[in-house]
Amino acid sequence: MTRTHTPAHSSPGGDDTSRTGLYGGTANRRVTVRDIAAAKRRGEKWPMLTAYDAMTASVFDEAGIPVLLVGDSMGNCHLGYDSTVPVTMEQVLMLSAAVVRGTRRALVVGDLPFGSYQEGSVQALRNATRLMKEAGVGAVKLEGGERSAEQIDLLVRSGIPVMAHVGLTPQSVNAYGGHPVQGRGEEAAQQLLRDAKAVQDAGAFAVVLELVTADLAAEVTRGLHVPTVGIGAGAECDAQVLVWTDMAGMTDWSGGRRPRFVKEYARLREVLAGAARGFAEDVAGGTYPAPEHSFR
Ligand code: KIV
Repeated sequence: MTRTHTPAHSSPGGDDTSRTGLYGGTANRRVTVRDIAAAKRRGEKWPMLTAYDAMTASVFDEAGIPVLLVGDSMGNCHLGYDSTVPVTMEQVLMLSAAVVRGTRRALVVGDLPFGSYQEGSVQALRNATRLMKEAGVGAVKLEGGERSAEQIDLLVRSGIPVMAHVGLTPQSVNAYGGHPVQGRGEEAAQQLLRDAKAVQDAGAFAVVLELVTADLAAEVTRGLHVPTVGIGAGAECDAQVLVWTDMAGMTDWSGGRRPRFVKEYARLREVLAGAARGFAEDVAGGTYPAPEHSFR
């Protein structure tokens, strides 16, 4: 299912979206980081979702989601792990390529997994380059504020757009010992402000703020000229991201509590289970396949 449609000489970015919104109008090309910068200047808020396969990504692309993140949340939501820590470059490469093939308009951001950039800028450049060349993503994301600024700086100077990620960084779950809300208390708040500023100064085109108190996220958003993308960071961020399986009610929360920032826009888990049960009943009862499903 190849939906990628990139004219050899695509039109210069900016014009259409500045009049009609990040994903509107007559533009028939992928959203770019330049469009995203223009959206911040206009004060336009925008949504981002995760995606891990071509078919789901094509649905979100057609629904007008301008940015899709092939997040290392694939560890929990797609690959059956209980954290993002085991996710490998090969897994992110394979799923990112699928999401790129399934989409035409969205900017696809590939997540650098744990262990693929922490050694330093050269390792980060090697792996980010693979994501662009082998999977075709338009940008990469990596976790960390001041501690990742050097990596971001080299990637950006090498022509690779980088989305940064500060606040709660799930690849450090073993260091946190859980998923605590970030930025509580003066010292933690000052560190978060320094982290956000450091990644912006290093050249990041957007900054994910995960599990940050709403007031602090608002202060960060006011202080940056690049957009903030909130997840559990209140309403003042420039953009909002949700993990698609949470957003669509696919995630099974029976083993724990649903985080308060997750809003379920559908009950997909129930819909799919109902479909599977209906199929099973029809097969057991001999009503599927019916004559119209059979060849003569
Ligand atoms: O991996 C991921 O899906 C993420 C988002 C939650 C921002 O990092």
